[in-house]
Amino acid sequence: MTARKPLALGNWKMNGDMVANEQLMSGLLESSALLMTGGAIQAGFAVPAPYLFQAAVRLKGTGFLWGAQDCSDQANGAYTGEISTAMLQDFEAGFCLVGHSERRARHHETDQQIGAKLKALLAAGVMPVLCVGESLEQRESGLAVQVVCDQVLAALKGLKTEELVQLAVAYEPIWAIGTGKTASAADAQAMHAAIRQALGQLDAKAAGQMRILYGGSVKAANSAELFAQPDIDGGLVGGASLDVKEMTGILQAANTRAASLGLVQQNS
Ligand code: PGA
Repeated sequence: MTARKPLALGNWKMNGDMVANEQLMSGLLESSALLMTGGAIQAGFAVPAPYLFQAAVRLKGTGFLWGAQDCSDQANGAYTGEISTAMLQDFEAGFCLVGHSERRARHHETDQQIGAKLKALLAAGVMPVLCVGESLEQRESGLAVQVVCDQVLAALKGLKTEELVQLAVAYEPIWAIGTGKTASAADAQAMHAAIRQALGQLDAKAAGQMRILYGGSVKAANSAELFAQPDIDGGLVGGASLDVKEMTGILQAANTRAASLGLVQQNS
């Protein structure tokens, strides 16, 4: 089986402006250009939709991906405020988050809608990143694995092997998002292993090839330990992705994982 290439994605959420985005992207290009052209890892940013064009112009040809934080499950038409997958294609978006807990909570997105968005993205050739995660109450009552695996299975059922291998899953415990509390590497690994097992129920062939990212207060300082876990294939990074130094450290941790998998060439 070929190794899963580490994937480190920043999620800017509703942050940034033209000037700050430029500073952030140019800072990262300066710190990490060599690492990115090596091709051992994949990395990119989920930017607010108005800045997709800015990101596309700035990042094209650099090895970094740019993507969106949400999309519509509809092709076009009277859907005020929504963004279609064709629009994402227009800006050459490489990926799109779906089902982020902030959207599940504030916009009441259901597993069914999330599944429909995911299918629309696959049809458009844009990599979906399915976000799942449990609340603190669910964890404390011992329901975390069940809740998370149910979210995964509900969104992905019915997909074919060749579709499943194109998407990534991001496990983001809600209590760890933006709180500074990270799941311990051991707890995160245990959940990732459970997710991979659930994926195996859907499709044994795809499960070993699918990337499962950890998200929730990932920082430069904790990324190496998280990315050293066998089933943690990278990270989805919120707050720390807005800081060049932090994100650079996270990309380096992803590269260390790539090296341990034999994906880094000697001269890079
Ligand atoms: P955080 O956010 O890194 O700021 O905790 C992660 C996310 O919500 O994707």
